[in-house]
Amino acid sequence: MAFGHGKVILFGEHGVVHGRPALAAALSRGARAEAHPADRPLLEVEPWGVAIEPSADGDDGPGTDNAGLRRAFAALLSGYPEPPQLRVAAELTVPGGAGLGGSAALSVAVVRALDAALGVERGNVEVAELAQRAEKVFHGNPSGVDAAMAAHGGVALFSKARGVRPVRLATALPLVVGYSGEQGSTKKTVASVARQLQRDPGRVEKIFDGMEAIVDNGKLALEAGALEDLGQLMVLNQKLLVALMLSTTRLEEMCRAAIDAGALGAKLTGGGGGGCMIALARDLKAAEHVQAALTAMAPDAFIAEVTP
Ligand code: MEV
Repeated sequence: MAFGHGKVILFGEHGVVHGRPALAAALSRGARAEAHPADRPLLEVEPWGVAIEPSADGDDGPGTDNAGLRRAFAALLSGYPEPPQLRVAAELTVPGGAGLGGSAALSVAVVRALDAALGVERGNVEVAELAQRAEKVFHGNPSGVDAAMAAHGGVALFSKARGVRPVRLATALPLVVGYSGEQGSTKKTVASVARQLQRDPGRVEKIFDGMEAIVDNGKLALEAGALEDLGQLMVLNQKLLVALMLSTTRLEEMCRAAIDAGALGAKLTGGGGGGCMIALARDLKAAEHVQAALTAMAPDAFIAEVTP
């Protein structure tokens, strides 16, 4: 079974779209896929219950309403000399539209499933590059961090210029991921930040400077196992995301509830405008406490221990 990782952005989302670094951690959840012989290329995705054929112009075929997915599948198939006569059965194990890199995980799993069936050998960098073609269909102007993390896994610094640079953790990170239940559109929030940057470059570049300093310090704290520092950096990063109008009342309430339940820090993760937040706990027992507090507000909060 082929696999692509979901991810959380620990620090630096949005700045990364504009050339700044971000720190991200891959999740053990994401997407899995398997390819089977067929008479034409097909993609089935669970739990969405969709089965689609590729379409470069995004025409909806009969019985489907998935123009974006059809174009994204066509973008992935553009990496093959001929359309593979394969049916790919894929399953997402993170919620879509939640800032957890579900679409990138799906694309990476699909590419790896096709490659495995066709006997194509492709390294992580090339898998991420191909997945990025589909990411552009889904998200407009993505930085590439999701596709890179989906392919590489682990914990890493990412920037557009330098790609993935793995970070060595001194200790495990007991993270809790909470889903606000509000569908966030990364395409929309990325476009909103781009508009703010155009209108007031001085202000927004200063916010990006702050995020970059948080990323630098976050890397040092990860390498030193300084969980309290990481928690404080998360709180600071969240303030900067609020300044870019990327948070919601619901996300703020969830971050507050996590901290009240003992989390060292909490912030939204990914595109924002809804989607998910993450909280850092001192240890797994404390993480269970935070998870319980979040579950009382929104179901499906889960513990994601990121290990060295
Ligand atoms: C990625 O998960 C979140 C954003 O930084 C968009 C991107 O990097 O493409 C908001």
